[in-house]
Amino acid sequence: MRFDIITIFPEMFSGVFSGGVAKRALEKGLLEVRIHDLREYTHDKHRQVDDRPFGGGEGMVFKPEPIFEAVESIRKNKRSRVFLLSPQGVKFDSGLARKLSRVSQVILICGRYEGVDERVIRHLVDGEISIGDYVLSGGEPAAWVVMDAVSRFIPGVVGKEESVRRDSFFGGLLDFPHFTRPRDFQGIKVPQVLFSGNHAKISEWRRRKALEKTKALRPDLLAKKKIAPEERVILESITKKGKDNEPD
Ligand code: ADE
Repeated sequence: MRFDIITIFPEMFSGVFSGGVAKRALEKGLLEVRIHDLREYTHDKHRQVDDRPFGGGEGMVFKPEPIFEAVESIRKNKRSRVFLLSPQGVKFDSGLARKLSRVSQVILICGRYEGVDERVIRHLVDGEISIGDYVLSGGEPAAWVVMDAVSRFIPGVVGKEESVRRDSFFGGLLDFPHFTRPRDFQGIKVPQVLFSGNHAKISEWRRRKALEKTKALRPDLLAKKKIAPEERVILESITKKGKDNEPD
């Protein structure tokens, strides 16, 4: 899959792919990322991408022409999807990340200033994406977030597919707790079940802990989730007090 990022600050992306999963994905050719400077799509001496808002008021607004021209020249075909990153967008989540990972080209426009000419929103993009209810000074950090979360769903990007499947939110639940050595850290012990070698028991414990954690910290996720009968049994057995943060 390919990401095309349209920004007035291309240099903000210079370190983004220098490590971790994204770097590996690029090296393996599973992911392609192209960063486009919006100013390259202007035709005036000052390479102006913004202008004062009609009707008056504070701040500047992104002009439509460079953005339309950029998208039209970058888009590969009708199946390409174009999104504006903005606080007005649909809330980005794991479900949207998974959907986008199946699209062969995703074009992300990083908004700035007071906004973007409304014609871009009404007539060019497929939608607006927000990464949360707060205002960033621009869409660039949001584009990074979207690319990272989406690329994890591209087969082969994360070493073990299992770890994506198990991740928080994938099955509509938060992740279960993880432990590593030492077995005893300052008197705080790793749950005994994890040494049992009994994989069925360990899975059951993990499922229970994921349910407990989700019920305690993100009950809204449970309300949205299709709960399997065996999960219902576990949930019913978790009393209010059962919101234990004990390891076992
Ligand atoms: N640009 C400014 N704020 C944003 C947000 N919360 N999400 C996505 N893009 C943004």
